[in-house]
Amino acid sequence: MNGRDLSGRTAVITGASRGIGLAAAQRLAEAGANVVLTSRKQDAADAAAAQVRGNALGVAAHVTDEEAARRCVDSTVERFGSIDVLVNNAGTNPAHGPLIDQDHARFAKTVDVNLWGPLLWTSLAVKAWMGEHGGAVVNVASVGGMAVEADLGVYNATKAALIHLTRQLALELSPGVRVNAVAPGVVRTRLAEGLWSGNEERLGAAFALGRIGEPDDIGAAVAFLASDTASWITGETLVADGGALLGDTTDRKTRTNRSGRRAADG
Ligand SMILES: NC(=O)c1ccc[n+]([C@@H]2O[C@H](COP(=O)([O-])OP(=O)(O)OC[C@H]3O[C@@H](n4cnc5c(N)ncnc54)[C@H](OP(=O)(O)O)[C@@H]3O)[C@@H](O)[C@H]2O)c1
Repeated sequence: MNGRDLSGRTAVITGASRGIGLAAAQRLAEAGANVVLTSRKQDAADAAAAQVRGNALGVAAHVTDEEAARRCVDSTVERFGSIDVLVNNAGTNPAHGPLIDQDHARFAKTVDVNLWGPLLWTSLAVKAWMGEHGGAVVNVASVGGMAVEADLGVYNATKAALIHLTRQLALELSPGVRVNAVAPGVVRTRLAEGLWSGNEERLGAAFALGRIGEPDDIGAAVAFLASDTASWITGETLVADGGALLGDTTDRKTRTNRSGRRAADG
């Protein structure tokens, strides 16, 4: 058995009806895990589960609805016998604009979904199974939690806090439960559409690796952290951003191209 094999294990992925959550579910199922995909809507959860090859179940649960979350975790253990992996992926960003213009409702919703959600689901999974048997939690944070940028202040603050929460939980739940995070850059999903739509080529060209991310780029990172290959890693945040944090490389590429051309010319 290789360290990436998850046969016989069960993973719950919140917010898995599309985008990064669905890609993570597909990667985990490919590695052999039973997967439970949540969405706010049962039909969307069912449709996503139908796109996964392997044992997949769709469950309706708003990520901050404690009763729905408890039902999901309990029924996962009943149905599959364990909950070995939890991917806290559901996230939202209703609070655009400068920080001083925010209202409490949008602020509170962002904090609730992006921060309380992961804590609630982790605590339920640990109490239902992982605390006694061990497991791996992967939180989907963002490179926005490591930088400052215009108009995303509330969202980025929740992701920065999620990175801290990851470290804190890693300490509190060790050694049985590993807790890590992935920090994606711009990925082609509905949530980030405002960032990449109509702007994809220019944006991708600014990243060292020359393109925006695909959901599977992040799904692969999630599956790695969830697997035994990462068995000596906890409290970490794995950045998967095509090199975005290295800075805007458009200039460097232009210079390289120019000097390359100059060299070729003469
Ligand atoms: N895309 C990016 O560039 C990017 C970058 C950094 C981090 N992220 C993070 O990646 C995660 C996934 O986002 P995505 O980009 O894949 O977005 P997406 O394609 O819009 O998917 C969001 C998913 O979350 C679910 N969801 C939203 N609110 C929910 C709630 N309250 N309860 C339960 N499920 C909920 C949605 O399901 P339903 O609508 O069916 O309920 C959907 O499955 C988020 O945490 C996001 O912050 C994304």
